[in-house]
Amino acid sequence: MKKFLLALAAFVATSMLFVASAQDAPTPEQQAAAATTDRQAVFKLLRFNIGAIIAMTQGAPFDAELAERNGRRIAALAPMIPDLLGAMDTRDYDVETEALDLIWDNLDDIDVKAQALVSAANEFADVAADGDMPATLGAVRTLGGACGNCHETYREDTE
Ligand code: HEC
Repeated sequence: MKKFLLALAAFVATSMLFVASAQDAPTPEQQAAAATTDRQAVFKLLRFNIGAIIAMTQGAPFDAELAERNGRRIAALAPMIPDLLGAMDTRDYDVETEALDLIWDNLDDIDVKAQALVSAANEFADVAADGDMPATLGAVRTLGGACGNCHETYREDTE
């Protein structure tokens, strides 16, 4: 009986491995699509966090704590940009993307621009931490500039 159970367990384990490997082996096309949605996810989070900050420049109530917190979040998210863009070169795949091909010849510069966003976001958060509304709202442009500075070169012009 014990032998039978062991054999059964081994059989179940092997079948599970087989199913797992059949499911876990995405095609390169699927990998490229996933790499694309993954990197777009971080940009959506960046937009979410800067959105509340930009809203304050457009009449939403000033909230220094929210501005600081979202600034720090942007600083925490930004280093994922080079990680996610570097994770897979999707140039040769038919993916839904605004990422320009030259990104993958310039990953060092992507690093520099992402790091510039980290600095800009932390500097913005430092200003917000002082609670001064005009100074904080005045610093939004520089923060947004760190986004635009990369988009200008590496993102398809969608306007
Ligand atoms: C180092 C370069 C870089 C920086 C810095 C950067 N972006 Fe982007 N962003 C890109 C690239 C490249 C894409 C295109 C990604 C794609 O479509 O695969 C993109 C796409 C986006 C998108 C579209 C995402 C979607 O839904 O497909 C949004 C929104 C966005 N960025 C917001 C921001 C914001 C906000 C910031 C600053 C807080 C920022 N980005 C900073 C390079 C950058």
